[in-house]
Amino acid sequence: MLNTLTLPPPISKSLAPPKVNNGNQKLIVLDGITKIYLTEEIETHALSGIHLKIEPGEFVLISGPSGCGKSTLLSIIGLLDGPTDGGYRLGNMEVSKLSLDRRANIRNQEIGFIFQSFNLIGDLSVYENVELPLAYRGLKPSERKSKVLQALEKVDMIHRKSHLPNQLSGGQQQRVAVARALAGKPQILLADEPTGNLDSKNGKIVMEMLKQLNDDGATICMVTHDERYAKYARRVVHLFDGKIVDETSHHNQFSGNL
Ligand SMILES: Nc1ncnc2c1ncn2[C@@H]1O[C@H](COP(=O)(O)OP(=O)(O)O)[C@@H](O)[C@H]1O
Ligand SMILES: [Mg+2]
Repeated sequence: MLNTLTLPPPISKSLAPPKVNNGNQKLIVLDGITKIYLTEEIETHALSGIHLKIEPGEFVLISGPSGCGKSTLLSIIGLLDGPTDGGYRLGNMEVSKLSLDRRANIRNQEIGFIFQSFNLIGDLSVYENVELPLAYRGLKPSERKSKVLQALEKVDMIHRKSHLPNQLSGGQQQRVAVARALAGKPQILLADEPTGNLDSKNGKIVMEMLKQLNDDGATICMVTHDERYAKYARRVVHLFDGKIVDETSHHNQFSGNL
């Protein structure tokens, strides 16, 4: 379906990253991550000395008030941005100082994103939105098709595959965004306030979906300022003023009630 679109050339094979899956080791290790934004002579210390380790298969929730650095932290974990200082090991690779190209390449292979505002492309159908990251990877249309349909099936959106995003409810759009994030079977799913624009019923549906994906083995790191969602994650990292101030673990089985 994307044959008619002009896409940037697929990333060359020489840039292909080594697989970051390395058995029982930590998947993500942040070692003293600092992020300073410089704007018009104002320095914002968004993150200061963040140490965080995430194991494969974990569901980690990063919580804290607005402006405390949650999105900044997620964008560094997701290789959308680099830290000002500190180390970041993803699998067995040090990724804190990679070039933009290399970062984009690893991101495309290993990381799926879900955003508060869905970020679907308005003039592409549901099918084409989910297909786009697979096309960027250089997969053939036939290979893309089975992955797109499988992902849409997982979020129960096959019946809307030819719709445009503005023909869907917010909850449906976010389910498509979840399908897009998981279609390429990334190692890590990152979600930034994925329920922020949804009513509580649809928020719960999306959370149940993330929980199911985690039960199926996906590593999930989710940002929220809504404490109600803490019970979906086994581990909650509390951020305040750019620092980790507390960490809580829930060992009890999730009850399913919000
Ligand atoms: N691109 C940017 N340029 C300058 N300052 C930024 C930028 N992004 C975020 N900030 C600032 O960094 C701090 C943390 O922001 P953010 O990570 O978005 O917090 P949260 O997601 O917890 O609301 C805030 O003070 C914010 O204003
Ligand atoms: Mg944010």
